[in-house]
Order: sequence, then C-alpha cells, then structure tokens
Amino acid sequence: MTLIEKLKESSAFIRNRTGEEKTDIAIVLGSGLGDLADELEDALIIDYKDIPHFPVSTVPGHKGRLVIGELEGRRVLCMQGRFHFYEGWSMQECVYPVQVFRMMGIEKLFLTNAAGCVNTLWSAGDLMVISDHIKLALESPLRGSNPDELGPRFFDMSSTWSENARNTAKAAADRLGIGLREGVYMYFTGPQFETPAEIRAARILGADAVGMSTVPEAIAASHAGLETLGISCLTNMAAGILKQKLNHQEVLETGERVKASFSALVREIVRTWK
Ligand code: HPA
Repeated sequence: MTLIEKLKESSAFIRNRTGEEKTDIAIVLGSGLGDLADELEDALIIDYKDIPHFPVSTVPGHKGRLVIGELEGRRVLCMQGRFHFYEGWSMQECVYPVQVFRMMGIEKLFLTNAAGCVNTLWSAGDLMVISDHIKLALESPLRGSNPDELGPRFFDMSSTWSENARNTAKAAADRLGIGLREGVYMYFTGPQFETPAEIRAARILGADAVGMSTVPEAIAASHAGLETLGISCLTNMAAGILKQKLNHQEVLETGERVKASFSALVREIVRTWK
C-alpha cells in the first residue's frame, strides 16, 4: 500500500466519524496542555489505535487520541499525545498525522510544546512563539520517494512559520496581557537532555529554545502547504545555564504552573486566527 493510499484510508475513517463539516485548525497539544482538549464542546473522541495506519503513542502522560469539536466558535481537532522520534518512531511516522490532516482538507496547524530555554535573558515559565527553527539532526520526515499529491520534492522553508499566524499570536497575547517571547527553536532528537556544550553551541547558532518535537511536524506541514504556528512553554533553563540538573519533573511542574495562561492564549489565538 502506498503512503497516499494509507493517508486516504486514515482521513476517510476520521471524516466518516466527524461528518463533512470542515475543521478550521488542527492543534497538537504538548506536555502540560493536554487538558485543553477536554474543554471542547460537542467533542468527538477517536483513539489513535482505532484509526487505520495511525501510530500509537507510548509516553506516560500522553493520551493518544484525537478530540474533535468546537473551541471559541471554531471547529478544531486536537491531538492529545504526539509521536516523538525518541520513542522509536521513524520521522515519517512522527509526521503521519499532519499528512492525514492535510488529506482531510485542514489548512491550519497549531503546534505546542515544552522546551528548554537557551536565551539567558528569559526565564523558565515564559511562552515563546516560534519565528523559525534549526534542525541539524540528519533525518528528514520526507526522505524517500515523494508523493507529489502531498507536496513538491524540493520546497521552500522560508515561510514555514507563518507571519500572519505569529502576528495573530502576538496580538492575542497583548489583548490578554500575557507576555510572549518570539524566537528560534532548535530541534534535538532526545530522549537525553542536551549537554551544556550543546546548549552553548545552540546559542551561538542562534537558538532561543531547544526541544524534542515540533520541527518534524512543521517540515511536513510546510511540504503539504499548511499554515503553521508554534508556541513553546519554556519549562526550564536549558542545560548548563543554572547550577541545578535538569529533570522531567521540573518540565511537568512548570507546565502545570503556566497551564492556565497558556490555555487562555491558545483559546484567544483559535478565536482570532483567520
Ligand atoms: N531540552 C529539550 N527538550 C526539552 C527541554 C530541554 O531542556 N525542556 C523541555 N523539553
């Protein structure tokens, strides 16, 4: 079976459940934001394991389901749980859902994540809209034969992070009185956190944040012509900046602390992103 055939089966399965009404925005909920999906009205829940060809996530705390419904008057589809390369999925598998969204006719993709803060002028707990990314990890989710139905073999990445969406996010943050940084997200595969030397290198290269998700999905989205927005919750200062060691607990705790304002910001963006 070809990738396109699989994508068509997956998207047809979801469309059969949701009906023909168009979904405005697909939202990938990162660590700490998963609860937002529970706030959708008239929600329809589809477990990943029921969708033909869909990968099934294994990370504790990641639920592994689509929640489709209304938020702030828009029709949204939330991924509660995403696929990470460090779990053992191929990059191609990590971006499979994004390609399904494209097959469903969804035009906007909102990626959220937890990330380490590289910029020493900022603090843990800050929110950052992604202006651009760096990925030096060699894999690409688009390696291999290119299904022309999805997008072109060689394509431009200079407008991957939509200016219109970023402006929407900044205006939304202003209206809510929530501080919003803007900067460059650098992808590391994980699952190990970075070394202090890697973080110094990232800073020299122009990164403001580091994380283990989001970039593969953004590449696939750019390929497929989706308008993409990314917001990171900077849950911890990256390795070597502070004396203390990094741990996943801190990531979860900061995520919890910031959850209310992050959710409010996501809602305001969903309401106004046109
Ligand atoms: N590094 C990579 N990914 C992360 C971090 C980090 O410091 N914090 C949360 N996700």
